[in-house]
Amino acid sequence: MNLFDVYPLFDVNIVKGKGCHVWDDKGQEYLDLYGGHAVISVGHCHPHYIEKLTRQLGRLGFYSNSVVNKLQVELAERLGKACGYEDYQFFLINSGAEANENALKLASFYNGRKRVLSLSKAFHGRTSLAVEATDNPKIIAPINANGHVTYLPLNDLDAFKVELAKGDVCAVIVECIQGVGGIRLATAEFMQGVRQACDETDTVLICDEIQCGYGRSGKFFAHQHLGVKPDLITVAKGIGNGFPMGAVLISPKFTPVYGQLGTTFGGNHLACAAALAVLDIMEEEHLVENAAKVGNFLMEGIKALRLPHVVDVRGRGLMIGVELDVPYKEIRNKLLFEEHCFTGCSGTNVLRLLPPLCLGEAEAADFLKRLERVVNN
Ligand SMILES: Cc1ncc(COP(=O)(O)O)c(C=O)c1O
Repeated sequence: MNLFDVYPLFDVNIVKGKGCHVWDDKGQEYLDLYGGHAVISVGHCHPHYIEKLTRQLGRLGFYSNSVVNKLQVELAERLGKACGYEDYQFFLINSGAEANENALKLASFYNGRKRVLSLSKAFHGRTSLAVEATDNPKIIAPINANGHVTYLPLNDLDAFKVELAKGDVCAVIVECIQGVGGIRLATAEFMQGVRQACDETDTVLICDEIQCGYGRSGKFFAHQHLGVKPDLITVAKGIGNGFPMGAVLISPKFTPVYGQLGTTFGGNHLACAAALAVLDIMEEEHLVENAAKVGNFLMEGIKALRLPHVVDVRGRGLMIGVELDVPYKEIRNKLLFEEHCFTGCSGTNVLRLLPPLCLGEAEAADFLKRLERVVNN
């Protein structure tokens, strides 16, 4: 059997990782400014993470959601404190798309409506409603195109107000820093205006923090830079540092109903051990603060290089977009194959930097040198 060939692959076989570095099967070391697509939060193969997962695996890897799981309770308490949402409720699933599916479903159960407002260039996942809320017709199959979603431009508050005033909108879903969309930032004025219009129309505000959340922006959540509180917050990627997990943080105004949501694997013992290890390390190593500090160093450093072809550098914390006036492809390939450095990308012209949150200033300075060499040559 062959693999279903949907991924355009780099011909690199990564077999080992440590902190912000990975190695291929030939022993070549790479600096990881991509974090396996923003997934690696506390660094590759952190000893505490390995120890906690190994210990849990030796005790119990999985039991179903039909019994008490104290690890889920502990995780909810720890995360509530870490992110400042102690009064919210917590539902665990397995991926980002699934988190958004459940958030949109909850919103619709709550107000009985079916219409969703999403943003131009939004990405919310590849399943059912999540893909319908994603502004990319190429990945929306006919079976997913059910007319639930209106896409509006980022930061166009008036457009949102007009649609919300119709009174038929179930939910607004927003990435406060668009990832796939090219590191575009929602403004505080926009988000506060949307929050108010949602309140006036009993519409649910969902912040998709799957890529921009979990410390990456230099605060626990990206929306916390903007002075708003969403009704539902979706997380995945960094929560498990590579262990497949997702979750929805749910405001107290939602009442749980037995059986309304559910999952076989979500919140299993091993997943919770991974997420608890991540929180331990984030706290112990002050990784949210590190993301703010090193992210700022990196962003200012890229600007200060005044590189040819770089027309904009934007982002928050360790979520940075470098917009070029040429396609990113050659620069990204040279970074990988000549400078041995992984980076991400968006659209055709944006290099996207999503390193582990433990990136040090020396590693960031090292990246600046590699980038300078590539762009200047
Ligand atoms: C903002 C955002 N939402 C949702 C998703 C989907 O997450 P998953 O691939 O875990 O389903 C992603 C993945 O890249 C994302 O960046």
